[in-house]
Amino acid sequence: MNWRKLRTFLLTLLVLSLIPATRYYQIDVPLVGFLRGSQIDPLTLHLAGEFVESNLGTEQDADGSVTVRMIAEQYLFIPHCVLVPAGVPVHLRITSADAVHSLAINETNYKVEVLPGSIAEAQLQFPQPGEYAMPCREFCGAGHYAMRSRLQVVARDQFPVLRAGERGTCAPQ
Ligand code: CUA
Repeated sequence: MNWRKLRTFLLTLLVLSLIPATRYYQIDVPLVGFLRGSQIDPLTLHLAGEFVESNLGTEQDADGSVTVRMIAEQYLFIPHCVLVPAGVPVHLRITSADAVHSLAINETNYKVEVLPGSIAEAQLQFPQPGEYAMPCREFCGAGHYAMRSRLQVVARDQFPVLRAGERGTCAPQ
């Protein structure tokens, strides 16, 4: 092996070893979009499609279950409080407007990784009414430790009856 070949080899090795490093530090390279298949454009979330503001929050499905749509962005979750009924399936759909985040529901095992460019889905269910903090569990920058939302689980008969297009929201506090 001559020096030129060795140098090329070492440079290739260096570049390849940098790829996991950028993922570890959550530097945004388009790699994520490549691997997962870009399902949604993080730059136009607020403008059109499933994750426009009026569509965020809790939607009642015809079968009695609910669908919750959320956006994670530096450094908040929208909405900042989510209301769901107890004892019914909760379909969570969440995406990121910028960096990699992770939505955890304290006191449960639920944790969802949220990547820009794709919609993360999770099936949840809460047997009892209660209240849970939902912090971000993936370091995403200076405001990471303050990034959180709240989950309010109310008895099924206390969940508002929603008309088509309406979203359930937490009582103002
Ligand atoms: Cu978002 Cu940490």
